[in-house]
Amino acid sequence: MQVVRLASETDLAGWRAAARNLRAAGVPPEAAIWTVDGDASLFAGEAGPAPTPGDRPFTVPREFVDLAGQVILHRSDERFSLLYRLLWRLQGEPSLMKISTDPDVDKARLFARAVSKAFHKMKAFVRFRTAGDEQGEAYVAWFEPAHRVTEATSPFFVKRFANMRWSILTPDVCAHWDTETLTFTPGADPADAPQADALEDYWRTYYASIFNPARLKVAAMQKEMPKRYWRNLPEAGLIPELIAKAEARTSEMVRQAPSEPERRIVKAAVRASRDAPYDGQAPGSLAEIAAGVQVCRRCDLWRDATQGVPGEGPRQARLMFVGEQPGDQEDLAGHPFVGPAGQVLDKALAEAGVPRAETFVTNAVKHFKHELRGKRRIHQTPNAGEVSACRWWLDHERSIVRPRVVVALGATAGLSVFGKPTPIAKFRQQALQLPDQAQGVVTYHPSYLLRVPDAEAKAKAYAMFVEDLKFAWTLAA
Ligand code: URA
Repeated sequence: MQVVRLASETDLAGWRAAARNLRAAGVPPEAAIWTVDGDASLFAGEAGPAPTPGDRPFTVPREFVDLAGQVILHRSDERFSLLYRLLWRLQGEPSLMKISTDPDVDKARLFARAVSKAFHKMKAFVRFRTAGDEQGEAYVAWFEPAHRVTEATSPFFVKRFANMRWSILTPDVCAHWDTETLTFTPGADPADAPQADALEDYWRTYYASIFNPARLKVAAMQKEMPKRYWRNLPEAGLIPELIAKAEARTSEMVRQAPSEPERRIVKAAVRASRDAPYDGQAPGSLAEIAAGVQVCRRCDLWRDATQGVPGEGPRQARLMFVGEQPGDQEDLAGHPFVGPAGQVLDKALAEAGVPRAETFVTNAVKHFKHELRGKRRIHQTPNAGEVSACRWWLDHERSIVRPRVVVALGATAGLSVFGKPTPIAKFRQQALQLPDQAQGVVTYHPSYLLRVPDAEAKAKAYAMFVEDLKFAWTLAA
């Protein structure tokens, strides 16, 4: 096996050089493994082939070169090997690219079409919001392209908005233009983009003014503006109403002459944007965290969850409870520990004499991880990567609330709070020092108490849980 490590997900130059070397060294497609640097350690110790000196130059059709430039931007993990298979086959089948029925050619064209579509959607649906810093006004957009087209699309935005300072933030990579130089930085979180601004009124007014009810074709409109892009589009909120009123507006339009777009709104928006600069800082309040987790893309759990569930409780609580993640009911309600585990927690808190209303209750992970079995959503334990991605929110909750004591409920919370596995049987009833001066306590997760099969063992574990809650409350006093 030959392992190739590419510098990035869109490293076409790296792919080309490696593919040339592999082909020259006679490495068949099935013997090549393509990785990007991030997962290179999986194959540590293996090396790529050395180029063969004096190898005959091998030319490929122009169509293949162009296709490769697009295919490489597709999100499929298969893209590097698919391209290498085509390159390899081109040696013996120089007309391969003309055979549209060939499965490899067909798949590559399919990938290229999807990328080209993503490219056009990005050009159409990026919406900048106003931002600013000491250097003056700037614009920031959050966008989630269907494929990795950000770098390829950026020159279009440079040309179009040459005199503006702007950044386009995406989960893959961020593009920045300072009116002279285009630069790229690693992917970002939507919480890093300004959430709303007055320019959105402009977009809404503009969109409403160009919307022609007489030409309404709902299916075509949704095809052009797929729902996956709606949440970033200020004008999307208008669509249902505009559709509903389309018929009435059509007859009204027949009677009325077209009106000017409302310039007054544009002016007001520009003025307001100067007064409300975006400072790009981390969340500074619990309200910002609550808003931030709703748009968090630090890991993939948001995709299947109903909503993010932030922590709740007084801003100055002395005691903080950290659970694992919202369960089925918490995911629907948007509040932590309101389902069966929450009832166990409430009962034990009451027995321990701890008023829940004076504590802050949160979770290590803010979205519900589950799998569907029939119609049931079955809890799945978040993995270390998800816990670590979500720790950003927990850390901010901790730095805002600054509790004296943080209680980790169960092993996942223990991993998040202490940064390492903290076996409960070994560490319960101990005050463990945390780096931010708070004391840490670890105890059972309420769901565990529900699962203990033996009645006697269950009662014993529950009694220990109540003891641990008392211990933590006394420590926080
Ligand atoms: N389990 C948890 O860990 N947290 C909740 O909010 C609910 C169940």
